[in-house]
Amino acid sequence: MWGGRFAVRPDDLMQAINVSIGFDRRLAEQDLAGSHAHAAMLRKQGVITSEDEAAIQSGLNAIAGEIQDGTFPFREEFEDIHMNVEARLRELIGPAAGRLHTARSRNDQVAVDFRLWVREACDRTLAQLLRLQVALLDRAEQHAATLMPGFTHLQPAQPVTFGHHLMAYLEMFGRDAGRFADARTRMNECPLGAAALAGSPFPIDREATATALGFDRPTANSLDSVSDRDFALEALAAATLCGIHLSRLAEELVIWTTPQFGFVRLSDAFSTGSSIMPQKRNPDAAELVRAKVGRLMGSFTQLTIVMKGLPLAYSKDMQEDKVPTFEAFDALELSLAAMTGMILDLEPAVDRMAAAAGAGFSTATDLADWLVRTLDMPFREAHHVTGAAVKRAEALGVDLPGLPLAEFQALCQGITPAVFEVLTPAASAGSRQSYGGAAPDQVRLQVARWRERLA
Ligand code: ARG
Repeated sequence: MWGGRFAVRPDDLMQAINVSIGFDRRLAEQDLAGSHAHAAMLRKQGVITSEDEAAIQSGLNAIAGEIQDGTFPFREEFEDIHMNVEARLRELIGPAAGRLHTARSRNDQVAVDFRLWVREACDRTLAQLLRLQVALLDRAEQHAATLMPGFTHLQPAQPVTFGHHLMAYLEMFGRDAGRFADARTRMNECPLGAAALAGSPFPIDREATATALGFDRPTANSLDSVSDRDFALEALAAATLCGIHLSRLAEELVIWTTPQFGFVRLSDAFSTGSSIMPQKRNPDAAELVRAKVGRLMGSFTQLTIVMKGLPLAYSKDMQEDKVPTFEAFDALELSLAAMTGMILDLEPAVDRMAAAAGAGFSTATDLADWLVRTLDMPFREAHHVTGAAVKRAEALGVDLPGLPLAEFQALCQGITPAVFEVLTPAASAGSRQSYGGAAPDQVRLQVARWRERLA
């Protein structure tokens, strides 16, 4: 491509470090879209003739066909996807191919290709997040009243419902969707026409190419246009946060499926066995989702380090933007799909969860609250009396509802049999009617709110 200035072929090592076709071939479709839009605009602006444009467009279509049926020759000697397409176009249509690169540089070309790819990745992720959210919503609605222990410090804290627990993840994935949508809005400006770095002396119409490629507007500074990779970093940051949420949910599945917890069972379809221990049912998919976040964080870190300290405008360092981004979205796509599969697959062990919901004196706070409400006791004092009741129950080897009335009354005279009504896990969860609380009615309210939001 630059034979005019160069007499000698690149050293093998030069080619080895420079070549990107091995990975940027994934931008082929976006590269063709950019070229279609650019050629049409050049013709409309009178920069190239209709005949040349027609030849270019049909050549690009032929290339799209070759890429689709796997016959396109991806060649390392042409370095990257942009020069591979142009070289092939020349073979297919002859010298007219050389007019396509008028008023364009690989710098704005790769910027637009990559932006299109990241935009599509965000759209795919949003669609996947929606599927996961609907799966969580369906399961949460089914189990709005299914009792389970709520934890802090992974110690039994207060009874909640399985639906309430799942809805917590709906909130997280909702924020993730918001971040992807937000990043998408901000990235939706078209860098094409910034050319190498300074813009073009040709009468190009950047509004036209921006519109043709589905962007809201052209980018406003040519230097920024070719040197900006914020769009990828924002998408990777959103992916990393989403990966953290997936990893936390995966961790819960790993814990819940242990025989010790036994809260949830994954079917054979989402479990694996052991080659030596016949009794095993391992949650490998959950473990791998838990681990994949490492790739996401790694990708985000890689690209932040590539970009920091780069002077304006384009530097070849930026070619290293693609591999981490592709890898991250591949990992995220698989993780979201696997998690959705597991959410739809899992079966909660309702009785076991309900039994666990009452264990560990989980309704102690309800006793303290009852003392405050019924006997007008200051909360600190109620906390003290309740602590003594728990201590007594522990000594007697019973749970709180099993502590005899006389024992309660020995600690506090005013306690009446009515106290037992608040000491069951169902009463405890059912009483948490504050907005966003664990009561089944509140869970159903949030389910309805999310149904509307996701519709
Ligand atoms: N393959 C390059 C990349 O991915 C395309 C841009 C090359 N531009 C340049 N001035 N060498 O970044």
